Amino acid sequence: MTITIKDSAGMDGMRVAGRLAAELLDYLAPLVKPGITTNELDRLAEDYTTKVLHAISAPLNYAPGGHNPYPKSICTSINHQVCHGIPNDKPLKRGDIVNVDVTVIKDGWHGDSSRMYMVGDVSVAAKRLCNLTYEAMWKGIMKVREGAYLGDIGYAIQTFAEGHGLSVVREFCGHGIGEKFHEEPQVLHYGKPGTLELLKAGMTITIEPMLNVGRKEIKELGDGWTIVTKDHSLSAQWEHTVLVTPTGYEVLTLSANSPALPAFVTPSA
Ligand code: MF3
Ligand code: CO
Ligand code: CO
Repeated sequence: MTITIKDSAGMDGMRVAGRLAAELLDYLAPLVKPGITTNELDRLAEDYTTKVLHAISAPLNYAPGGHNPYPKSICTSINHQVCHGIPNDKPLKRGDIVNVDVTVIKDGWHGDSSRMYMVGDVSVAAKRLCNLTYEAMWKGIMKVREGAYLGDIGYAIQTFAEGHGLSVVREFCGHGIGEKFHEEPQVLHYGKPGTLELLKAGMTITIEPMLNVGRKEIKELGDGWTIVTKDHSLSAQWEHTVLVTPTGYEVLTLSANSPALPAFVTPSA
């Protein structure tokens, strides 16, 4: 197991990349409206990344082992789509919930973040799922500090999610991140306290729980990327890139218009 530890230059590189990913999500927020297609969002995101952020979209042509190259610059996962939805020409409609997942590369460093967007008025159940998934991510983030275990993060997320009647997707997880998009370790969103890898200051990881209203099982569509819930129940996801510090965590993918933190989040020392 080789987990990279960022030195102070690496941490600064990750801070910049993380902020730019968040700024891209800020830019997209007001554009996610009924009638826009996810292909239009993809095009706008690609232009903003290259022309305004002077950065690179990591997903475009990304081809981890066994996968055909990812064809777009962002992932857009709607309603029962869990993750890795591929933008297309279908317009968004009122009531949809959409996860937009962006990863930018700046000066060789990766910043990875996703948010849920609600298209017009959405159902109470959809709104509850989006809000609880956001809180579940933060429950995990709050466990991060040097000397904590990865299992502490997974346990915090799983107990919170299941305590609210939601299920945790098992097949996809958070990850180390740095000069590579996906590094070790895997960051599971379920587990037992005091198990798995011990966190050390200077590690950078993502926490990105996918929670379903129905059962946890998923399946992959024929495009080789899009993941949906097997029972077609609604699914939501949020993602931050986080730096492990000696006393806690530093969330790297924050920006001026990041959603407010849940009330239970107390500043990390
Ligand atoms: N951004 C996703 C993650 O959080 C990975 C997307 S891979 C892609 O890890 F190829 F689908 F873009
Ligand atoms: Co990620
Ligand atoms: Co992501």
